[in-house]
Amino acid sequence: MDNRPIGVFDSGLGGLSAVRHLRQLLPHENIVYFGDTGRVPYGTRSRDTIRHYTEEDCALLLAHDVKFIIAACGTVSSVAPDILDHLPVPAIGVVTPTAKAAANATKNGKVGILGTAATVRSASFEKALHAIDPTIQVTATPCPLFVPLVESGWIHEDDPVAIPMVRRYLAAVKEAGVDTLILGCTHFPLLAPIIQKELGNGVALIDSGRETAVLCANRLKGQDCLADRADGTAKFFVSDQPEGFSQVAEIFLGETVTDAVEMVRPGHKKG
Ligand code: DGL
Repeated sequence: MDNRPIGVFDSGLGGLSAVRHLRQLLPHENIVYFGDTGRVPYGTRSRDTIRHYTEEDCALLLAHDVKFIIAACGTVSSVAPDILDHLPVPAIGVVTPTAKAAANATKNGKVGILGTAATVRSASFEKALHAIDPTIQVTATPCPLFVPLVESGWIHEDDPVAIPMVRRYLAAVKEAGVDTLILGCTHFPLLAPIIQKELGNGVALIDSGRETAVLCANRLKGQDCLADRADGTAKFFVSDQPEGFSQVAEIFLGETVTDAVEMVRPGHKKG
C-alpha cells in the first residue's frame, strides 16, 4: 500500500485525457497533474529543448512526493524515454503500451500513426511496433495543427475547421489502408469522433492516454502500491495563467473540475 499521489505531466492539457482514464481505473488514487501551458507546444521544438523541459517537469512532480510518474505526452515519451527510466520513482511514457495495443489490434498488419512533428521524426512508435512485429507496415503523419485546435476546444463533430483539417491529415493513412490508427499524442483522442467518421468503423483507434493509464494501474497493482483510502483527489498545476483552465480541462476530463488550479514555474524553487 502506498498513499503517495501519482504524478502526470504533459506539455499542456492533452495529458488530462490520460487522467480521465486513470480516475476511472483507480478512483482511490490522488493525482498531481502538471500541464506546461506556458511552454506548449513541445512537438515543434528541438530535441534538446524537449529533454530540458522533461527534466524540469519531472523535478516539479517529484517535489510533490509522487510514487509514480506518467509522461502523458507523446513527444516527451518519444524524445526523452531515457530520462524517464532514470528517475528515483518508476515512470512510464505512452509509446510502449500504445504500440503493444496497436500490434494486438491490427489484422492486416497496416498501422497508422498520428503524432507531433518531434514524435514522428523520432520514429519511436515505429521502432516499438517493429520490435514486436517487424512485418508491420507503418504510415506516420505529423499533425502539429491538431494541438492548438484541441486546446481551443474546436473538437465537435460538426466543427467547420476541424473537419477539413482531419481530412487533410488523414489522407496518407487512408490511402495506405491501415486498419489500426495510433493517436500518438494525448491531445488527439478528443478528435476521435471526427477521425472515426472520416476513416469508418473498420479502423481501430488506439488512445495512447488510455493504454498508458491501464499500464500504470497494472504496475501499481502488481507491486502492491495502490492507495488505501476512500476517494482520491486531483491537484492541477499549470505554468501559465490558470484562468480558463477548468473550462478546457472539463472537455478532456469529462467531468467538472472543482479542485484548485495553481500556477507554478518549472525550474523555479517554491517559497
Ligand atoms: N500532448 C503532446 C503530445 O502528446 C502534444 C502537444 C505538444 O506538441 O506539446 O505529444
